[in-house]
Amino acid sequence: MGNEKYLKGKVAVITGAGSSGFGRIMAKRFASKGADLVLNDIDQDGLEESKKIIENEFEVDIKIIHADITDLNQVKQMENDVFDTFDNVYLLVNNAGIDGGLYSSLKAKEEIYDKVMAVNVKGAWNMTKIFFRKMKRQRDFKPVRGKIINIASCAGTDNGLNPFIGVYSASKAALIAFTKLWALELGPDDITVNAISPGVFLTPIYNNDPKLIRQFLESRGVKLPIDKIGDPEWVADVAEFLASPKSDYITGENIKLDGGMTISINKT
Ligand SMILES: NC(=O)c1ccc[n+]([C@@H]2O[C@H](COP(=O)([O-])OP(=O)(O)OC[C@H]3O[C@@H](n4cnc5c(N)ncnc54)[C@H](O)[C@@H]3O)[C@@H](O)[C@H]2O)c1
Repeated sequence: MGNEKYLKGKVAVITGAGSSGFGRIMAKRFASKGADLVLNDIDQDGLEESKKIIENEFEVDIKIIHADITDLNQVKQMENDVFDTFDNVYLLVNNAGIDGGLYSSLKAKEEIYDKVMAVNVKGAWNMTKIFFRKMKRQRDFKPVRGKIINIASCAGTDNGLNPFIGVYSASKAALIAFTKLWALELGPDDITVNAISPGVFLTPIYNNDPKLIRQFLESRGVKLPIDKIGDPEWVADVAEFLASPKSDYITGENIKLDGGMTISINKT
């Protein structure tokens, strides 16, 4: 996609950016395109590590904000903190998410249901509800005033609904539905909203353990047509495309990034 710094002068807010998983890697990629960064997480050490790694490589401004996205008041405070330092929010990446463990949807305990829905659905809703208002007023950014990228999951798609992680699956289906609703609601303000739905990727959510991922796939009899476990850089590739001017006319899409996993389920 070239080395042009199309995000220079633009701010990217990324939740779950204290993890060495997708959050940090996407943040790094946006910095490589010139974006200033707001890194959010509940993991303070992880946030400091992300900041250190990125500022060693790129000359961009980075603010870290330790806040729980499930709490609307903390997200409102985050808004104040962000705009004390920066004058815009061009990219909002709703990336923070938890799986809550392995439970079918009806066997999950109430506290697991509440927690998974709170982070994966309400957290993204809180962030979008607070930050779209500033995006809307950024008329100087043309033709798009702001972009929202939701990190959903194949487990939230029709073919990928996963009974082993039932509540997680439902939470990601809700996030995909919100992606389309927000695209409808915010399109008239020149804000795009899209989702990326990864399949299986090597990150801390799977303890960075490829064997665990293989066992998980085998337990469901799932084959990957492209038989590779995902590299988080590939998620950053798609996020980079969605953040770039090349995708300005795309909104309301859910891009599956799964090596063909979901099309193969129940086909063999
Ligand atoms: N790894 C995969 O294979 C995979 C596949 C599909 C979807 N996803 C999704 O991608 C996203 C990132 O996944 P990852 O693998 O990098 O996970 P990860 O566990 O490495 O990172 C998630 C980060 O979110 C943070 N977080 C959790 N609750 C939070 C809260 N209330 N407020 C702020 N931050 C909070 C965590 O502290 C963590 O740093 C998640 O939404 C996940 O569901 C991952």
